Amino acid sequence: MKPYYLTTAIDYANGSPHLGHAYEKVLADVISRTKRAMGQKSHFVTGLDEHGQKVQQGAEKEGIEPQERCDRVAKEFTDMLTELNISNDDYIRTTETRHKKVVSSLLQDLYDRGEIYMSEYRGFYSTRAEQFLQEKDKVDGDWPEIFGEVTEITEKNYFFKLGKYQDWLLEFLQENPNFILPSHRQNQVIEFLSEPLNDLCISRPKERLSWGIPLPFDQEYVTYVWFDALVNYVSAADFGEKTFSNIWPADLHVIGKDILAPPHAVYWPIMLKACNIELPKQILAHGWWTSSGAKMSKSAGETISPLDLVKLYGSDIFRFFVMREMRVGQDAEFSLDRFESRYRADLGNDLGNLVSRLLHMCTNYFDSIVPTSHVLDTPEQELIEKWEQTRKITLTFFEEFQFSQGLEQISGFIRAINKYADERVPWKLAKSTEEGDLKNLQTCISTMVEALRLANSLLVAVMPEIHEKINDRLGLSATENWDLDLDWDCRLSGRKLKEKIILFPRK
Ligand code: ME8
Ligand code: MG
Repeated sequence: MKPYYLTTAIDYANGSPHLGHAYEKVLADVISRTKRAMGQKSHFVTGLDEHGQKVQQGAEKEGIEPQERCDRVAKEFTDMLTELNISNDDYIRTTETRHKKVVSSLLQDLYDRGEIYMSEYRGFYSTRAEQFLQEKDKVDGDWPEIFGEVTEITEKNYFFKLGKYQDWLLEFLQENPNFILPSHRQNQVIEFLSEPLNDLCISRPKERLSWGIPLPFDQEYVTYVWFDALVNYVSAADFGEKTFSNIWPADLHVIGKDILAPPHAVYWPIMLKACNIELPKQILAHGWWTSSGAKMSKSAGETISPLDLVKLYGSDIFRFFVMREMRVGQDAEFSLDRFESRYRADLGNDLGNLVSRLLHMCTNYFDSIVPTSHVLDTPEQELIEKWEQTRKITLTFFEEFQFSQGLEQISGFIRAINKYADERVPWKLAKSTEEGDLKNLQTCISTMVEALRLANSLLVAVMPEIHEKINDRLGLSATENWDLDLDWDCRLSGRKLKEKIILFPRK
């Protein structure tokens, strides 16, 4: 069976990883792990976008070769993936032969079929943005600061016949309303297409930019940005080999909203169409993390960057925070206060307390052997009912990539377990000598153990390490298949639990 082929943007090699990069890779990883928990095989690819002017200039400044600089940056990014416990199956770098080969062959094919032509181009060019600008980019008659120095230049370049596919793309989007998620973004793309679509300049003369993939039909030029970067999705799937169709089409491209339109929603579908390659099934455009600055000050006075939190708290806590805090598709403001309060409340008070008090009680009252349930009174019935709802709603959210709302459901269920304990008051029952009280105590601990097992099953994709730790305490191996894991069946009764554990120590 074809695996679920999932990709992220490939990060620019002109800077170090930041919160935005980390978030996107965590989001894709959670999707990949969710698919696997749902019993589907997943093929998850991320990578690095290494060519371009800024990389070339950065290397020149340091007096080293661009490749050397890229190798260093690649290590920073792959170290980040390791630290975040990202389970990608492949890492594609645009300087790899497997990629350059595919870029060349696609370009040659398009050129041979007249889809690429040479023309003179005159315009205002921003070195910082690596792009020609248009009148509409001006603000109050001036080029905005973000473009840096802007100069007028004329040069011959190669163009891809983008414009002739405009009507086809519009029709495609109208017939496939779920191509882009969230759906309001698809409407923005449709609106973008209401203006005439120009052909796309795909080259740069070598004297201006040497750090790129040469055009196979004109060695005086290199490919420029998108015809290089976007192709990674098919080169990572071994386009040109027999095995390509085992992986392609991609099921999902995860990207940020800034590179949706036009690159992923306009250039990419048209490039594929022109090359007679099937389109990806879906594109998910996430929002942006904002913050008042790279540095956030702590009350104590020291400063901390979001990625430092991974080292301080561990990858799972960071993963939980970004998945819980950002609604997929919307922007979110990063704040250390929010981070600390999620850690204290959602994790420490709710989940952490449940685990430690439950293990403690089971050890004290039953020598760590999970008792059997005897009664099904209102408190039990309500909790089971709450589980069935949580399970259904959470899985629906997860399938729609709405992890924040899914996690909110799980937290609600965990609080319901704690509330159940407060109703059953096992610590009082334990003091009683009556037969009925003992049965209620056994029922209560058994019910709580089962509820914790189930809540924990749903956490596997977001907090794989915490998930494993809790399962280990319960005498279980890591969850593998939600089809088998999520039924309420008190399967742990009679098992020996391990001692209590502090999952989320006070910081
Ligand atoms: O755009 N919040 O690379 P990149 C959330 N190489 N996401 C953010 C973000 C933020 N503050 N800042 C950046 C590129 N991102 C190209 C992609 S794909 C064929 C080529 C996201 O390093 C951004 O939206 O600038 C993008 O999806 C990813 O990080 C890489 O950004
Ligand atoms: Mg960017």
